[in-house]
Amino acid sequence: MAGETPGKPPRPAGLAATLLGITGQKTPAIVAPPAKTASPAGTPAATPARPPAGDTKLQAFLAATIADTRRALAADPRDAALHLRLAGALRMQGDDDGAAAAARQSFAIDGNEAAGYFLAGIGDGAVPARTPDSVVTALFDQYAATFDQHLVGRLRYRAPELVAATVRAARGDRATPCDVIDAGCGTGLAAPFLRSLARRLDGIDLSPRMIAAARAKGLYDALEVAELIALLRDRPARYDVIVACDVIVYFGDLAPVFAAAFAALRPGGFLAFSAERDEGTGWRLLPEGRYAHARAYVAATAAAAGFAVHSVSDAVLRTEAGADVGGVITVLARP
Ligand SMILES: C[S@@+](CC[C@H](N)C(=O)[O-])C[C@H]1O[C@@H](n2cnc3c(N)ncnc32)[C@H](O)[C@@H]1O
Repeated sequence: MAGETPGKPPRPAGLAATLLGITGQKTPAIVAPPAKTASPAGTPAATPARPPAGDTKLQAFLAATIADTRRALAADPRDAALHLRLAGALRMQGDDDGAAAAARQSFAIDGNEAAGYFLAGIGDGAVPARTPDSVVTALFDQYAATFDQHLVGRLRYRAPELVAATVRAARGDRATPCDVIDAGCGTGLAAPFLRSLARRLDGIDLSPRMIAAARAKGLYDALEVAELIALLRDRPARYDVIVACDVIVYFGDLAPVFAAAFAALRPGGFLAFSAERDEGTGWRLLPEGRYAHARAYVAATAAAAGFAVHSVSDAVLRTEAGADVGGVITVLARP
């Protein structure tokens, strides 16, 4: 059913690419194209779901996937996963209408979360308050093996280093080692920057494969596969520092995240995170499957949870095609 994949796809990721992966296609890697335009943060789904016209390898891969999937659908038109795969490939190919139609068919068959989320991102259907757990897990489980090489090696991803630096600045000359949780730790890229700060360094993530990669680094005291809000709610006053590098982009409504983080922090503690900026007034799900937040919304939601805004700074979180890609690093203080 998977058919031929002409050549190894150049690079993993992206929500559209995830739709291919979620559907169980036996492709060696799920691909997303090199971005032509900069987007404000450093992860797969931040990349535009479009292959550059000149990427013939990727175009050939997509064309083969579409042809194979259409053939399989002719035999089994009620296969929701196949429609979803078609949606992902068409979107990456640049056929938005075709992608939307395929996602609608997938959703109509079994109401699956991935199709619903994809449709919400393109303005068709209810926007969830955060990325569904199943979508997060599928995206990052398939990305885990190449995450470090792609983000750090190719995109010069710097969010962990920069977020850790803001934490150090916020703590000033406090010498006491603190208890830190890397929330949405992924493969553990922040651990080298947090380790010397932390008496205890915990990491949690929804993706078992990301957690396995983090474990291999050997820098955490404890790692757990868990959902961030649920886990923080369960650990009242346990931490002095919570960091979330490029994780808040998977949450739209920040009220539950901030409330859980506030509860998990001790008085005097900090929540530090990188995010994507929206120029509106609230939060928005982008077509790439990530959420962006207005600065005023973040400040108001933080205040409602009891936080004081300690610092907000624009930062270059990575590069893309030689161009700097910006985001916002925010540090909230629990009084
Ligand atoms: C872009 S990666 C960043 C990983 C790491 N923080 C870094 O900077 O390298 C986002 C991570 O957040 C995790 N994540 C997203 N939503 C989550 C949630 N609700 N609970 C736990 N982890 C989540 C994903 O599984 C993924 O590993």
